[in-house]
Amino acid sequence: MSFDFDSFPDRRETSSTKWNRYAGRDVIPMWVADMDFRCAPPIVEALRARVEHGIFGYTDPPAALAPTVCDALARDYGWRIEPDWIIWLPSLVVGLNVVSRALAADHEEVLTGTPIYPPFLSAPVNAGRKVITVPLTLSAGGTRWEWDWPALEAAVTPHTRLLLLCHPHNPTGRAWTRAELEQLAQFAARHGLLVASDEIHCGLMLDAQRTHVPFASLDADTAARTVTLMSASKTFNLPTLGCAFAIASDAQLRARVRRAMAGIVHHVGGLGYTATLAAYRDGQAWQQALLDTLRGNRDLVQAQLGSMAGLRTWHVEATYLAWIDARELGDASPAQRFESAGVGLYDGAAFGAPGFLRLNFACPRPLLREALERMRTALHR
Ligand SMILES: Cc1ncc(COP(=O)(O)O)c(C=O)c1O
Repeated sequence: MSFDFDSFPDRRETSSTKWNRYAGRDVIPMWVADMDFRCAPPIVEALRARVEHGIFGYTDPPAALAPTVCDALARDYGWRIEPDWIIWLPSLVVGLNVVSRALAADHEEVLTGTPIYPPFLSAPVNAGRKVITVPLTLSAGGTRWEWDWPALEAAVTPHTRLLLLCHPHNPTGRAWTRAELEQLAQFAARHGLLVASDEIHCGLMLDAQRTHVPFASLDADTAARTVTLMSASKTFNLPTLGCAFAIASDAQLRARVRRAMAGIVHHVGGLGYTATLAAYRDGQAWQQALLDTLRGNRDLVQAQLGSMAGLRTWHVEATYLAWIDARELGDASPAQRFESAGVGLYDGAAFGAPGFLRLNFACPRPLLREALERMRTALHR
């Protein structure tokens, strides 16, 4: 079956956050992480049928949903979980805020590696917890971002309680290897840390020979200290439908998560459940076609940026996000330079890395080509 990744309807008509930012200006938006692709036809069909029903009353998770998620995780990653390990959430960022409250006590420390998706830095602070950041480091040869193990060890104090892991990693595009995950698991065990593993990008593995390894699937001890956060929304482009979930094999961790949610976190909307069920049950053919498209886009981005003096980027193993070092340009705000030339990139400062940029390449190839041309022009200004 073939799917259309070459065109998309005008998103400004839908008050799109991504496109609204540059309303009335000729700026190609490549900042926030959603895709300029219509989602999988089986999801649109399931939503259409649900909308046709016409009654949108309070809705429980459909009976088929948790077993379908379990089957999908076993099918895609060989990870076996039980339906009652799942807690439904209205978004993954809500999940990051909930685990910051649930898994660390007042004034305990939450550890994470930078650069990092901004809510990793704000969620612990929202919860009154202290956030400790440890910069990732470049490998020998500079080909990929890695954990700085000595720095991670040095950052731990008796008050450190929770490790917030982003896997695959936004913004560097790393899909941590099993060896790296095992080292993280040993580190967490040695220091008695709980772990919240945000795996929202797990369906976007671009290195075709690799498979996502859920952190909690490593072994029973790791599972017992981990809350995994997932959602179909990144892979299937559904963020406005508001459905995510936490997975914890440990009943006490689940109870702590539920207590932190009680009375505050809204239930998931019925359309979110409908779309999530269709995605995990019927979305595979579309997902494979999407990954082929994204691989081509990634290769184009890498080739083009690689030939632009003053910019440096890295191979994206997973996600549709390229991380760019623009410090050599010497600009106070490199994002401003590219915005003036008609490309809206995400400023790395929000990720804890001023001088860097994040480029979202999930759009039709002609639009991506145009954006890359504009970036090249911007360098000559
Ligand atoms: C690592 C990561 N977590 C969470 C989110 C947002 O998830 P949600 O829209 O479900 O809150 C994103 C969005 O880009 C993300 O990259």
